[in-house]
Amino acid sequence: MLQIGKLKLKSNLILAPMAGVSDLPFRLLNRKFGCELAFIEMINSCSISHKSRKTQHMLSSNGQDRPLGIQLLGGEGKFILKAIDVLSSYEFDILDFNAACPVKKVVNRGEGASLLREPKRLYSLLKVLVKNSPVPVTLKIRAGWDKDSVNAREVALAAQDCGIKAVFIHGRTKLQGYSGAVDYRIIRAVKEALSIPVIASGDILSPELIAKMFNETGCDGVAIARGALGNPWLFRDAPGFLRNGAIAKRPSIDEVLKTMTQHLNACIDFYGGKNGVVIFRKFFNWYTKGFRKIRPYREKSSRVKAAEHMVSLIQACCGLQPERETH
Ligand SMILES: Cc1cc2nc3c(=O)[nH]c(=O)nc-3n(C[C@H](O)[C@H](O)[C@H](O)COP(=O)(O)O)c2cc1C
Repeated sequence: MLQIGKLKLKSNLILAPMAGVSDLPFRLLNRKFGCELAFIEMINSCSISHKSRKTQHMLSSNGQDRPLGIQLLGGEGKFILKAIDVLSSYEFDILDFNAACPVKKVVNRGEGASLLREPKRLYSLLKVLVKNSPVPVTLKIRAGWDKDSVNAREVALAAQDCGIKAVFIHGRTKLQGYSGAVDYRIIRAVKEALSIPVIASGDILSPELIAKMFNETGCDGVAIARGALGNPWLFRDAPGFLRNGAIAKRPSIDEVLKTMTQHLNACIDFYGGKNGVVIFRKFFNWYTKGFRKIRPYREKSSRVKAAEHMVSLIQACCGLQPERETH
């Protein structure tokens, strides 16, 4: 069991926030496969405080979509306060603060990973969050800005003193972005220093890599990000592997295609026909990763506009075989 503040979780496998991915259809689908705590993608405090229509849509949720985490991006206390005020009309269980995003326009605004270079400013923002949030506050960090300034341990310790209830740590530096080796040692150092839960992120792509992360770092939970793209089966299969090394049978092509169709339909319900199909295109590629002779189907999927054409394209994949065991 994993406890974050007053939130008690049965599962320590968490669906990480992913910009452009972690919408309501994606979260609900992963929940069907065993995901418990899921996050909405990061949302800028300033956009929330302006109540833009796009932001309100991103915050859409329902009764099945719990427990739910919201992640804020921000650099100024006044917008964070306003965002918390607006969020009081939404139901959620965790408020995470992002000090990890490496995207240029985000760090140039003094937000995301750039806060690792200005820890004092980060702590003052965390104090505002902890004082005003109705739910437990958590913090997402990286190992550090670059390999010469790895400071996750110091940042996490001071953040714990500010009253946050868990730390999510991506074991790469800002400069590494999303590639290169994950630093398991820094995650272990953070875990050993803190008394609050530490949730690890970075290459959480398979049951084996999840076990490796737990074994090498002693972390309390893991955040699944790219590992869940086109692969909600990771939530179904990982617990058995962690318990007794059970290797689950991979989903059949029929099962993958059925799940794709359900996901497509959920996107259409949520975004409307045209937008739903466009949003689903990237998922088509992820679900069919490793399918033999998939290329012409992918090329078509990148142009398909009508829902019925996307459905036919999915059905047409039924004769294909997975080339390697990717799911
Ligand atoms: C498409 C994409 C979008 C992401 N968006 C966010 C985000 O909104 N907030 C966040 O904290 N991390 C975000 N991340 C980072 C992931 O949560 C995770 O920390 C990172 O991908 C490392 O885990 P992995 O190697 O298992 O994918 C994103 C990652 C990807 C691939």
